[in-house]
Formats: sequence, C-alpha cells, structure tokens
Amino acid sequence: MARNKITIVGAGNVGATTAHIAATRQLGDIVLIDIIKGLSEGKAIDIAEAAPVQLYDCNIVGTCNWKETAGSNIVIITSGLPRKPGMSRDDLLAKNAGIVKDVSEKIVKYSPDSIIIVVCNPLDAMAYTASKITGFAKNKVIGMAGALDSARFSCFLAAELGVSVEDVKCVLMGGHGDDMVPLPRLTSVGGIPVTELLDEDKIAELIERTRKGGIEVVNLLGYSAYYAPAAGTVKMAEAILKDKKTVLSCCAYCKNQYDAGGYFIGVPAILGKNGVEKVIELDLNKSERTQFDKSLAHVKQLAAKIDELI
Ligand code: LAC
Repeated sequence: MARNKITIVGAGNVGATTAHIAATRQLGDIVLIDIIKGLSEGKAIDIAEAAPVQLYDCNIVGTCNWKETAGSNIVIITSGLPRKPGMSRDDLLAKNAGIVKDVSEKIVKYSPDSIIIVVCNPLDAMAYTASKITGFAKNKVIGMAGALDSARFSCFLAAELGVSVEDVKCVLMGGHGDDMVPLPRLTSVGGIPVTELLDEDKIAELIERTRKGGIEVVNLLGYSAYYAPAAGTVKMAEAILKDKKTVLSCCAYCKNQYDAGGYFIGVPAILGKNGVEKVIELDLNKSERTQFDKSLAHVKQLAAKIDELI
C-alpha cells in the first residue's frame, strides 16, 4: 500500500516540529520545503536520523523544489512571518497574505487533489486566502487554531484541577485571536461539566490565559510557540489521513452555519478523509452568540483587507 504523502511548507520551528511529530506517528512520507537553501534539507536529515532511535518508518525529504511535493495528500502551510513581542497576529497580515498566495498557487499546480491545513497567522484570514487562491472545495481548506486553543485551555484546566489532560474536553469557537470564544458550558472533565468543579472566577481567569496563550509564549521566548501548534496540526492531519471522523474545533468555511456568510472561522467540526466532513452547529446562548458575532466581525474585517490585497 502506498504511503500517504505530506508536504509541510516552511521548515521553521512550527514546520520542522510538525514534521517530527508526524514522523513519530508514522502518518506517511514527508516533504519539508522552504525557500532558505539548506534549512529544510538539514532538518529533514536530522529527523530521519532520529528514526532508528524513535522507531518510525517514513521517508523525509528536505527541498527547495516544489516538484518534489507533487501528488501530496495533505499540504500544511506553516510558512510566513511569526510574531515578535509587541506584535498582534493581525500585524502579519499583508506580508503573510503574499506568502500564502504564492504557496497556494504552487499547491494548485503540484497537488491539486490535496487537503490544505493552514497554520500561519492571522489564521482565519490566511485560511480565507488559501481558499480564495486555490479555489479548492471549501471542505478541503482548513485552518489550525481550535486544536491549539483547546489544548491550551485543557492544559490549564488539568493543572488547576490536578487531573489527567486526557479527561478534559473542551470546545472553543471564533477566530484565533483575543476574541476567541471558549464555551465552559460544554467543557467537561471525565464527563463532569467543568462548571461543577470550578467557580466562575477561576474559569474566567483560565479563559483569559487561554486567549493570551500565544502572546504569553512570545513574550517569554521572543518568538512564537511551536510545540503545541505543531501537535494540534498533526492531530488534524491524522484525523484526515486515518479518516478518524474526529470531532474538534478548527477554522472551517461557514456560510449558512452560524449565519457566518461565507467566511473561515473556528467552529466544532468532524474531520475525516474529505477534510471538514461536517460543521457542528451548536445552539449558542445569548452571551456566546454575542461573543461569536464580535469575533466574526473581526474575521470579516481581515478578509476584506485580503480582498483589497489579492
Ligand atoms: C499561537 C500562535 C501560533 O497562538 O498563533 O501560539
């Protein structure tokens, strides 16, 4: 049986870490591509050399040549500028829109049947860009944010409660920004609603930390997080490649769903071999709906900027 082929665009921290985690999970053969000569080749060799210790079988190639990416099942776009202290994700828009446009054109040429996972920021606007340029079916372009934001919220909740991270399940919606919409009402710990276990103030504090989770790391490191973003990305790739029908939050195209009107925004969805197989529509309460609408308005503003640029 032929192995899956996964192209990862950008061999920086997120791209290379995604490649390593995907290799350890034996998701398929990997092509790591970057414009910087030597970077993807060096990282690919290093990851290949870890294989005899970590025991994974996959071919991993580093290259600057798009021809080597041809026929990929999944293309993961991590290329683009990351944030530095003092920058918001939106500050990256113009520069990264150009990069995602170029990359999307290459994907159409070399892997027209692929599913795209977008990881670079501002996330919702970059998913919109990749969709606009590729013209791929809307279910085949997906942004990675909910998996990361849910992981952050779950991590903080598990630490606060002193329980296994495995037991915490949560739903986050909205754009990947400070106005993301965590839903404590639908967050559970071993099946118990978190609202039974923590008081409102503590939950609000952990939500605030989740909203600021990206910048917390940027301020400490001087550059963006990558272990958790890469882990979230691989979870999505695995759901698609193994047709797992995984329920998770991701940045998906919504037209009638949530009355979004044709934008990419974080929603709970089922991921399988067709990409987004279904957007799950929740009956939001008034406060959740207000928060979601605020986030959607922001996502629409950024999409309008993309429409001016490309
Ligand atoms: C973060 C960046 C990757 O949230 O958006 O860490």
